[in-house]
Amino acid sequence: MADAADVLERKLAARDKTIAALMRRVEGATVSNNSAFSTFEENIRLEQVVARKTEELKAAQERLLREMEVQRALEVELRQAQKLEAVGRLAAGVAHEINTPVQYVSDSLSFVREALADLSGYIAKARELSAAVVADDPANAAAQSCEALAEESDLDYLLENLGPAVDRALGGLERVANIVRALKRFAHPGSAQMAPADLNEAIASTLTIAANEYKYVAELVTDYAELPLVTCHLGDLNQAVLNLVVNAAHAIADVVAGSGARGTISVRTRHDGDHVQVEIADTGGGIPDEIRERIFEPFFTTKEVGRGTGQGLAIARNVIHDDHGGELSFVSERGVGTTFRIRLPVTPLRPR
Ligand SMILES: Nc1ncnc2c1ncn2[C@@H]1O[C@H](COP(=O)(O)OP(=O)(O)OP(=O)(O)O)[C@@H](O)[C@H]1O
Ligand SMILES: [Mg+2]
Repeated sequence: MADAADVLERKLAARDKTIAALMRRVEGATVSNNSAFSTFEENIRLEQVVARKTEELKAAQERLLREMEVQRALEVELRQAQKLEAVGRLAAGVAHEINTPVQYVSDSLSFVREALADLSGYIAKARELSAAVVADDPANAAAQSCEALAEESDLDYLLENLGPAVDRALGGLERVANIVRALKRFAHPGSAQMAPADLNEAIASTLTIAANEYKYVAELVTDYAELPLVTCHLGDLNQAVLNLVVNAAHAIADVVAGSGARGTISVRTRHDGDHVQVEIADTGGGIPDEIRERIFEPFFTTKEVGRGTGQGLAIARNVIHDDHGGELSFVSERGVGTTFRIRLPVTPLRPR
């Protein structure tokens, strides 16, 4: 797009030059004073040339605008495709994440069901006992069989463990609900308009659903500062953050590979006047000097097919820089790690 704008600018400069040259000729002609009529003729000719050139430029400008629109639509499509791809890839991880707590819930509920069967047997006996007592019948036999049943079904154990089992089930459900909420938030199609959003909450959701991408290789350390609501396209920012987190996980995976060691991914948010900052730092191998210039290029990747397509950073830069008027920068040291920093205006000046 920058190229097309350059071409147009060069054409405009060329037009200005042509007009200036023509003007000089007219002036020269007037001074050297040919007949008034030939000057008049010359003027008309010049006006025609200028009119034709202007028409041509207008057509070029319209073409350029149309091309820019097509390009913009393609970018949106590409981003949407990458988001769908990410959601697809994350789906397996999310299913896995949900599976563990669901297992808790299911085990705990099985225990509760068995305990309930034993308890209802005991309660029936206990009622027989109380009925005998109420009727003033000899209650000794009923009391004995009640006690026997209590022993048999290990009533003390059941009563001790029922509460915790229900708590575990509730905890498991809470985790499932959390993951599902995070997924919904992440996958939300978002509106065409920017809207004020809680970035800390959005980042926490993105980290929840991406957990399977990093939790085997890295500890996650979060440090959220109090932030104002930030006017943004939240779905796109979620995608950008996800891309950076997945890159961090890959960088760490490469250095810890096979060693059983784990790295650290630190996610920090900061409020700085009319800007907010999000930093995603990893303890991976760092970015080699010779590729630093290229990492934001679309389709530049050092990863094997199936692991990366080279779109992550290009899309993140596009979202942060072009759409939100923010900045995406990084510092990286070989063997130490990399920190990517997103800097966003709280209220973008020229929201798209
Ligand atoms: N945190 C990081 N540490 C080390 N290298 C990185 C890091 N982030 C990006 N890179 C380098 O930059 C390249 C481009 O990253 P980018 O996210 O654009 O593409 P990708 O991760 O290769 O593929 P995709 O994101 O499309 O799955 C990566 O292939 C990697 O070499
Ligand atoms: Mg990537």
